Amino acid sequence: MSTPLSRREFLASTSAASLATLALGAAPVRPPGPARPVVIASANGLAAVTKAMELIKAGADPLDAAIAGVAIVEADPNDHSVGLGGLPNEEGVVELDAAVMHGPTHGAGAVASIRNILHPAAVARLVMKRTKHCLLVGEGALRFAKAHGFPEVDLLTEEARKIWLRWRETHSLTDDWIPAPEGEVEPAVLEALKTRITGTIHCSAIDTHGQLGCVTTTSGLSYKIPGRVGDSPIFGAGLYLDNAIASCGSTGVGEVNLVNCSSFLIVENVRRGMHLKDAMIDALKRVVATTTRNPRFRDANGRPNFGVNFYGITKAGEFAGATLRGPAQMAVHDGEAARLVDCAVLEP
Ligand code: GLY
Repeated sequence: MSTPLSRREFLASTSAASLATLALGAAPVRPPGPARPVVIASANGLAAVTKAMELIKAGADPLDAAIAGVAIVEADPNDHSVGLGGLPNEEGVVELDAAVMHGPTHGAGAVASIRNILHPAAVARLVMKRTKHCLLVGEGALRFAKAHGFPEVDLLTEEARKIWLRWRETHSLTDDWIPAPEGEVEPAVLEALKTRITGTIHCSAIDTHGQLGCVTTTSGLSYKIPGRVGDSPIFGAGLYLDNAIASCGSTGVGEVNLVNCSSFLIVENVRRGMHLKDAMIDALKRVVATTTRNPRFRDANGRPNFGVNFYGITKAGEFAGATLRGPAQMAVHDGEAARLVDCAVLEP
């Protein structure tokens, strides 16, 4: 008769199984080339760029390195914008979006509104490599992940549940929930509710052969309507690359990138000769100009009521980040060390 697993043993075996799936679909390593590698990410990606650079130096494909890098953040219960510990939808269920693009093949794969899977970016790579499609959603994405051996995991941590519960109890005066007295609520919960989380991690990499790869992975907008999908799993919006030009991705309120194809716009403007940073500022101006026509996206003064950030690398290894409203930083590893650097700001 088998002995039931303890909670610790269950968690260990789950993460071992999740870890095993991280290698599925990865390309064989090859001898390093002569080009200078660079990895960039949003500011929550210092550990991600460090891991990705280590793998690139060992000969990994740039996309595989980026996926392994962001997997650290996907598994981090303290990052409430990605993977495990991500803030849930309005019903208290964590739904994840992720996409990948591979420079050498211009391959692309994505999953949206996927539940119970710790590493959605690795599933997105399998959509790219093991289907004739680019995007799987919801229940279909989950079944596809399980077919490839990804274990189901409860992604709602205790802290995320408490934050969601406080949001649920306090967001309406006309329903039947009675909020706990403020003095009984943990300070971290109150702090987390001060802003609405639209975090996400984007990571772009160029390897020692000058090949690009990129990934964006997120739990999306906190307390979203179930089934809401942002820009992260949509090519051209939350990420885009052309192996001959540049790689780019975004964090922030995804809707404004969905209606502006922002990542595609940035790469195309680099193709036409713009410096990467100028292309990002230009895209921010476009986003502001178009979205503030819609009252939903502007405040009482007609200014944008949202935040959005871009991060990217060119084929030549130049990197840049830009944000609508500063200050903001991005993570960079240039082969020497990982560090945070300032992003350019449209509206200081
Ligand atoms: N940019 C992430 C999202 O809007 O879901």
